[in-house]
Amino acid sequence: MKKRIVVIGSSNTDMVVKSQRLPHAGETVIGGVFQIFPGGKGANQAVSAARAGGDVTFIAALGRDALGDQAAANFSREGIDISLIKRVEGAASGVALILVNEAGENIISVAPGANLCLAPTDLDSVDFTNYGFAVFQLEIPVETVARGLELARKAGCVTVLNPAPAHPLPPRMFHNIDCFTPNQHEIAMYADGTEDAGKTIETQARALLSLGCRRVIVTRGAEGVVIVDKDGAQRVAAPQVKAVDTVGAGDCFTGCFVASLSAGSATPDAARYACHGAALSVQKPGAQTSFPADDKIRAFMNR
Ligand code: RIB
Repeated sequence: MKKRIVVIGSSNTDMVVKSQRLPHAGETVIGGVFQIFPGGKGANQAVSAARAGGDVTFIAALGRDALGDQAAANFSREGIDISLIKRVEGAASGVALILVNEAGENIISVAPGANLCLAPTDLDSVDFTNYGFAVFQLEIPVETVARGLELARKAGCVTVLNPAPAHPLPPRMFHNIDCFTPNQHEIAMYADGTEDAGKTIETQARALLSLGCRRVIVTRGAEGVVIVDKDGAQRVAAPQVKAVDTVGAGDCFTGCFVASLSAGSATPDAARYACHGAALSVQKPGAQTSFPADDKIRAFMNR
């Protein structure tokens, strides 16, 4: 039977300008197209997991404003349980300003607003025994993530931390992480300073295992993923596609990965499924607007 998933994290509204190239500091680039999309790493992962067939509850803090209302309505349309979402008086809902170039690369600046109001104590009343999987990222206070990981793990959840955006973490936090899903740039930062920090991704991942987390899944874009645990390292290839917009691709991977695990897949199979989901997502603009449904991912895998 499918296990339920709780995603705890941020929600933003993404204000996106796509232009030929990204400006340098102090430069103006003209000729872009402007679009508004639902986003935020937590919300993206919740939506991605729900579209991939997961039974998802999302815990977040939204402002009591129009953007917060739109976000909540969007989660409901996606079939996500929003009964534990907190609305914050006097704080604006999160906003991300995003620039995308013709190669699909991006730069992002986030005004987190209400996202920073999700406090560790907000998780004290959550009954984590209702869930098989608990998923976190780092766009909410790190203390809240630490508390959530601890409570979820005690309750028997498989815990997943997508450590983005990269932020220093207390080493003791790693004991409460079952799956750590950095990208290839983030892992270098997390492994740095540990005894085993070294050149290869496998070596960097082993340094994190030595801190206590049980499995490291490093996403490498078009080059697929590397899975490292106590039994060794394994590479999973990604399908080759032409990217138009990579915003949210890592979130799509994490959401699809957890949804697949929650349906009973083994880790390498879930990673392969998630690579196909993310490869579909980069071919369309926006984060959530580009995330595929389960049937589309399966058809792509079987093509
Ligand atoms: O990971 C992509 C997300 O990062 C965007 O949707 C934006 O909101 C930022 O949080």
